[in-house]
Amino acid sequence: MTNQEKLELMKEKAKKIEAGGGEKAVEKLHATGRLTARERLSLLFDEGTFMELYQFVEHRCANFGMADKEIPGEGVVTGYGNVNGRTVFAYAQDFGVVGGSLGEMHAIKIVKCLEEAMFAGCPVVGMNDSGGARIQEAVDSLAGYGKIFYKNTMASGMIPQICAIMGPSAGGAVYSPALMDFVYMVKQDYAQMFITGPVVVKATTGEDVSAVELGGAMTHNQKSGVSHFVADTDEDCINQIKTLLSYLPANHNEKPPVIECDDPVDRMEEKLNTIIPESSHRPYDMKKLINMVVDNGDIYESQELFAKNIITCFARMNGSPVGIIANQPRFLAGCLDIDASDKASRFIRFCDCFNIPILTFVDVPGYLPGTKQEFGGIIRHGAKLLYVYPEATVPKITIVTRKAYGGSYLGMCSGESGADMVIAWPTAEIAVMGADGAADIIFRKESAEIKQQKKDQYVAEFATPYQAAKHAMIEQIIEPRETRPVIISALEMLKNKKEDRPYRKHGNIPL
Ligand code: HXC
Repeated sequence: MTNQEKLELMKEKAKKIEAGGGEKAVEKLHATGRLTARERLSLLFDEGTFMELYQFVEHRCANFGMADKEIPGEGVVTGYGNVNGRTVFAYAQDFGVVGGSLGEMHAIKIVKCLEEAMFAGCPVVGMNDSGGARIQEAVDSLAGYGKIFYKNTMASGMIPQICAIMGPSAGGAVYSPALMDFVYMVKQDYAQMFITGPVVVKATTGEDVSAVELGGAMTHNQKSGVSHFVADTDEDCINQIKTLLSYLPANHNEKPPVIECDDPVDRMEEKLNTIIPESSHRPYDMKKLINMVVDNGDIYESQELFAKNIITCFARMNGSPVGIIANQPRFLAGCLDIDASDKASRFIRFCDCFNIPILTFVDVPGYLPGTKQEFGGIIRHGAKLLYVYPEATVPKITIVTRKAYGGSYLGMCSGESGADMVIAWPTAEIAVMGADGAADIIFRKESAEIKQQKKDQYVAEFATPYQAAKHAMIEQIIEPRETRPVIISALEMLKNKKEDRPYRKHGNIPL
């Protein structure tokens, strides 16, 4: 064979692999609104930057007539390229090739992608669209999943791991996304995640449920909290992933990328002075408050539809990314419940892993009371917040806008829980409990008239920031309109913060 012939052979082999499952399979995918693996990758990467790896990998299974079966690219495309000029690794499963099913060599391609991303210190994006373990490969595909889970765990906290569910993800296949940092789901019937499908559910529990109801995007974004972001289409999903990447450093040794800021750092926001209602029982929109503080009002919210009583989002202050955790008085009065504790704790840990300073906006009446919460384990779930804030070593700034009561205040990054700077508005109410609760306990034997008097006195003396200020529990009380410049100044002051901890294997977070 001449060199020219060798070159032609290589091109021919590559072309065949690049055609995936062939025209018919591609047409079938397009008919459902779905893109192919290569189309998805080309939307992710800057033009001409994608470098494919392990393109010529082949399976070595001989079971059930597999010996002669060609599976182009093993049903998954992997490699690296630039996303807005920064290197990112990615893999995309190709449903058009044997249903994107995961055999031994398919798994090895993903494992190598994760491994190389770790060595290079770059984020990884996985696009999942697969019928799950390749049935013919039996335990070899099971072992493949095991290797992926192991690598996901090793990569955790070293590089950002982002997963997009753009097709079926069933059985054990759901656990690689669950081990990654953020899960996107496309809100189309083809994107589903469940550990057992509707047929098995019916057989074991008698429940009738459709695949979309059981594991579609809205289920996992609203109810289960498994997914963090919902996208309308494949294109929307990939664009959103690029937005997320723009807030993140490439790895745990880097600081997040700073961009030019055209929003004045000394911007006073007069509307903040009147945003808190006169009655402390009335809600207001914490999201609007955050919008007024951050650069250009831009936030990118994680788990927007889940546990709406707490907000978790990325934003920028003077061009530098921050992670924001905030109680939302519009839902459950901003109380902390099981889901809110889980949602915020995981977000805080992510920020801490990747050197993203944490801003906490507090308006919290307490942990949510009741049997549903107690029986569900609010004690161990709520404890996560009490654990993750002290554990985090990134700059932590807390702004108390209104209520900051009891254990829930300690769970929202008080000074004692490790805040570097606690700023209160004059409307802050920092106390052990609210006036009503306090009156029912310590003034319960008094006449109605005296009880009311004492309650008023409690509000005047305790439901303020001044008790906390007197005992040096907060750094400063400020006019609400100054919040943006004050936070930016605090972030600047803390920019070289380095907090070392004594060696231990690892802590034991309550799970
Ligand atoms: C081998 C598979 C496959 C699989 C799909 N295919 N899933 N081949 N192993 N797991 C093949 C089909 O045979 C078909 O091949 C092609 O992919 C397209 O599949 P269709 O069924 O035609 O597509 P569709 O009608 O869209 O249905 C999609 C589907 C269905 C709902 C995902 O394919 C399905 O139910 N697949 C099996 C799902 C499953 O039970 N997986 C195992 C989960 S357990 P042809 O040649 O006809 O085009 C698991 C354990 C992991 O994953 C454990 C880890 C810890």
